[in-house]
Amino acid sequence: MNNNDLIERYKASNISVPMSMIGWMRSNHAGETGAVWIYIGSRCVFWNKDIKKMSREHCQTEKNHLIIMNHLLKNQNKSKLLLIWRVLGFSLGFFSAVFGYRFFCVTIQAVETFVEKHYQEQIEYLYTHSISYDLLKVLEICCEEEVEHQNDAGFKKGKINNYIENFWSRVVGSGSSLAVSISKLI
Ligand SMILES: [Fe+2]
Ligand SMILES: [Fe+2]
Repeated sequence: MNNNDLIERYKASNISVPMSMIGWMRSNHAGETGAVWIYIGSRCVFWNKDIKKMSREHCQTEKNHLIIMNHLLKNQNKSKLLLIWRVLGFSLGFFSAVFGYRFFCVTIQAVETFVEKHYQEQIEYLYTHSISYDLLKVLEICCEEEVEHQNDAGFKKGKINNYIENFWSRVVGSGSSLAVSISKLI
């Protein structure tokens, strides 16, 4: 699928981002950058076939999301800290994968649970204020695909989290929240 097909698929042609959404869209672009790099990092754990398979599948969707965010957000509005988001994404993907498939799935489930909430806030804002129905539809498609990742990781992980995994999930959620707050501003 080339970029034009993707932009059509996400219904993202001819959308201009409202001023009130610039901060949010900056954080979306930064987040999708981080997401792509999570899976670049995890694929470095090449000896684990399950991690490699999930990373390859999820990474393709994250690359699509990044192309869409790149298309929607002008360069001047992008985060100035993209290098940091790449390094943090790579580190999170690599180090969680080093601890094995289950721990990697716990991490992905935690990240995607946060991302779902993050997209839902924007969808609700656009819906409540009747702003840009077109942008709302794009964010809805992205959000649905994040939920698919979340469910995929949750299903493959299986049984409920233990104490350490719950603690780690909260750390990942708080870290993601902090990254969003910063990337909304800069
Ligand atoms: Fe994504
Ligand atoms: Fe995702």
